[in-house]
Amino acid sequence: MKVFIRTFGCQMNDRDSEALTGLLLEEGYTQAKDEGSADIILVNTCSVREHAEDRARSYVGSLKKLYPKSGSRRPIVGLIGCMARNIGEEIFQRMRHIDLMCGPSGLYKIPAYIEKIKKEKIRIIDIDDTFRDEEMYRAAFRMEPDHAQVVISTGCSNYCSYCVVPYVRGNLRLRKPDFILDEVKRNIDMGIKKVTLLGQNVNDYVYIGKSGKITFVKLLKSVSEIKGVEDLSFISSQPRNTTKELFQLMARAKNITKNLHLPVQSGSNRMLKLMKRGYTREHYLSLVADYKRIVKGTISTDVIVGFPTETDKDFQQTKKILEKIKCKNAYIFKYSQRMRAQSRKMLDGVSDEVKAERHSILLELQKSISGKIRS
Ligand code: 5AD
Ligand code: SF4
Repeated sequence: MKVFIRTFGCQMNDRDSEALTGLLLEEGYTQAKDEGSADIILVNTCSVREHAEDRARSYVGSLKKLYPKSGSRRPIVGLIGCMARNIGEEIFQRMRHIDLMCGPSGLYKIPAYIEKIKKEKIRIIDIDDTFRDEEMYRAAFRMEPDHAQVVISTGCSNYCSYCVVPYVRGNLRLRKPDFILDEVKRNIDMGIKKVTLLGQNVNDYVYIGKSGKITFVKLLKSVSEIKGVEDLSFISSQPRNTTKELFQLMARAKNITKNLHLPVQSGSNRMLKLMKRGYTREHYLSLVADYKRIVKGTISTDVIVGFPTETDKDFQQTKKILEKIKCKNAYIFKYSQRMRAQSRKMLDGVSDEVKAERHSILLELQKSISGKIRS
């Protein structure tokens, strides 16, 4: 039987799809090259912005055309990942061609769910927020033959006011350091040299075990010391708890990539406070100065324009901070109101026109900065 997985969203979702593909390949499934030739279609979704949800929803809706008019075989269709937890119940009721709805915690159970659907001809919904079993990361399959993305934690407990992640991926949960190191070693043994550690905010990683406290910096150091790791990176770092200790390690360890993804979100202290980011513009700038002095590397960032009540003065501060920090890459997003996020209650929204204008001003600005950094 052939399986096709379509992924929307971030690097974490790419890794989840990859890990799930690995589990299915081990069960004897093969990969279909497109939806038309697949027996099973899984759509791995993202809820961070409305646009991503809209795209996934219309894609899943379009799969209905693969239903034969009468009789013959049709593919099993699953909507999985963040949207399943965010708005899965409603979609499951409305889109009757969806056989499986599964949230991020339960992805490792999908091979068993598919077997059950095939045998019993039932529909399954599992949108519980539980601890993800290590089974999820067991398979060796990699989409990129020379690159291992390794999850260190799932979920987030920071509750930035605009963000849906803690509600859909749950609170922060850590993988055990030994499991992470083992997964890296397994990949090195397969000949992979490039490793990326993934967490919503890697700095939140503090594992307390029998041998004491293992912070993210300690974990990163241990991974960097594994023989055969030649190119090591990590994503993302919340400025609130990014430390000089991390920069010192980045400077010391030759195999750690000298790029830091440090999402600023806004250059205005008023916005940062409303966003509940836990740092100020001044703190961010001093972190960047420390980073550039210690690591001498590049920075990339994320920015949100049009957060509720953002004035032109707030926006100008964001523009200025981008001019100042000179990122290699900046991912600029228009604020998107999310159903569960705390900021949904802030009614004083910025108009779509103003959001679009601010978005395009920053895109232009960043294009010229990135151009100069690369040249
Ligand atoms: N609206 C717009 N952008 C958002 N992000 C997260 N939530 C929202 C939202 N509600 C952006 C942030 C984050 C990136 C992954 O997505 O910039 O860093
Ligand atoms: Fe969302 Fe903030 Fe957690 Fe990032 S740190 S996932 S923006 S709540």
